[in-house]
Amino acid sequence: MGRQFFVGGNFKMNGNIKTIRDIVHNINQAKLDPNVEVVIAPPSLYLLLAREHLRKGIEVAAQNVFDKPNGAFTGEISVDQLKESGITWTILGHSERRVILQEDDQFVASKTKAAIDGGLGVILCCGESLEQREAGKTIEVVTTQLKAVAEKVKDWSRIVVAYEPIWAIGTGKVATTEQAQEVHAAIREWLKKDVSPEAAEATRILYGGSVTEKNCSELSKQPDIDGFLVGGASLKPAFVDIINCNN
Ligand code: G3H
Repeated sequence: MGRQFFVGGNFKMNGNIKTIRDIVHNINQAKLDPNVEVVIAPPSLYLLLAREHLRKGIEVAAQNVFDKPNGAFTGEISVDQLKESGITWTILGHSERRVILQEDDQFVASKTKAAIDGGLGVILCCGESLEQREAGKTIEVVTTQLKAVAEKVKDWSRIVVAYEPIWAIGTGKVATTEQAQEVHAAIREWLKKDVSPEAAEATRILYGGSVTEKNCSELSKQPDIDGFLVGGASLKPAFVDIINCNN
């Protein structure tokens, strides 16, 4: 069976009550490709607002979750708190958290384990810096990030991998289709060897980094690109065109 196309919208630290309502309204009104799985990730303050107003069939993701069940962890949110609120996914390992908040591979892996064990889906991000790419280390960097998770998590059926080259995020500098496909194919090969042939076949690998309604269609034709994690463009009406890019 083919992999279902997946489009995630990562709002990052953007939006307010009015704009989140407007975005949700726009998605609710739109005619969306029924074959695409859509998940939006507003800032944590607006998760419930989005869930309450978003139509059924579209899921809501947190942008982060903690790896402990409860307790004295100021500022953190648990897996159970998300689940109780109808939030079924979380993004983890985004480069903005890895770089700015210095989250290392072990912490990302530990949070991924907590999320998967608790029944959430995980959009697991990986990606290299420009310096690492220029040093020819892209595949090594990406597979090292993923390997840390594979050491802790055996069941990858609720993990969606998002390959996001850091140099392409928010820069308008999208990876070429060849660059993206090459890394996606390498991730799939790695999944086959280090996780299982079944996981390699079934795991969706998304591309993220300056995806727009203009470049999505060509990227989506690549055999190992199974969707997108969209940042800036997910805040705009064009998000709908990205969801519908295969039509
Ligand atoms: O999570 C989304 C990515 O960081 C991509 O962001 O589409 O604004 O480049 P962007």
